[in-house]
Amino acid sequence: MFTFDGRPVPTDGERSIAAALLAAGVRSWRRSRVDGRPRGVFCGIGVCFDCLVRVNGVPAQRACLVVARPGDVVDSQDEGEEPE
Ligand code: FES
Repeated sequence: MFTFDGRPVPTDGERSIAAALLAAGVRSWRRSRVDGRPRGVFCGIGVCFDCLVRVNGVPAQRACLVVARPGDVVDSQDEGEEPE
């Protein structure tokens, strides 16, 4: 189990955060900069950066590439946050 915006989400410790969120019925977790449209997975292979989330306090992590580990704290993030 990890949390997404405070909500518990199951994980087997092997799938990506994006895969775990999709399996839990979460389809979007970010908003586009210009018109606030929902964003989630687009390419699924780390190219488009549409799937950015904050993982354990580190912003701009690609949810399609980062493995969802038990105990992780994952949060949606504001558009434009850059990696620290
Ligand atoms: S979905 Fe494209 S980088 Fe993650």
